[in-house]
Amino acid sequence: MKLIAGNWKMYKGPAEAAEFCLGLRDEDLDGADVVVCPPYVSLAVSVQLLAGTEVAVAAQNVHWDEEGPYTGEISARMLLELGVYGAIVGHSERRQYFGETDETTAKRARAALAAGMFVIGCVGETEEERETGQTEQVLQRQVSAFESDDNLVLAYEPVWAIGTGRTATPDTAQEAHLFIKSILDVPVLYGGSVKPDNAAVLLSQPDVDGALVGGASLDLESFIAICRAGANIPS
Ligand code: PGA
Repeated sequence: MKLIAGNWKMYKGPAEAAEFCLGLRDEDLDGADVVVCPPYVSLAVSVQLLAGTEVAVAAQNVHWDEEGPYTGEISARMLLELGVYGAIVGHSERRQYFGETDETTAKRARAALAAGMFVIGCVGETEEERETGQTEQVLQRQVSAFESDDNLVLAYEPVWAIGTGRTATPDTAQEAHLFIKSILDVPVLYGGSVKPDNAAVLLSQPDVDGALVGGASLDLESFIAICRAGANIPS
């Protein structure tokens, strides 16, 4: 079985999140290992509505301090108080638009893991980096910022495949995952335009341990289809 995580990004306020979670709660997910990552304001309602199900709820980021003068940030302790036990860190959109670095990503991951949360740490090269032969160097640098932990999974998300409809080929994903695991031995999810029609083939790769799904996780039917694909493939 593979882990399927839905990253809602800045979509679905509380009302839409509630509608989605109510729908998800009623579905038979074949025992799939599933996480949803709503925006902060929709975490509480998602936790409430998914309580008692197998679906976990994670935040899209987390700060490294417990509290402090950090406008716009949320701590692991605050998330845990809400019943949120996981967080994404270092997503490429955070790195691209909000100045997130390997260093801040590492601090966020370390604090969340120390607080007992599970963490999805994102890595991945840009198109220019791939075309200029820097993929391994970039992955080496990004992956090395993390430390191995039982509650850490990484997500390989080539930036050129995120939200573009372009997916890494199963071979490209497998090769990158193997390289990542040679640096840090943790499960690695694939992210970047995962859809119901390409999920099974990507997830069938031996070192693709799951998927981090953006756009296709916003629609209940397509998310469920991906979850079922993940449930049916042995790890
Ligand atoms: P996408 O996003 O599935 O819409 O490409 C993936 C992600 O950014 O996590």
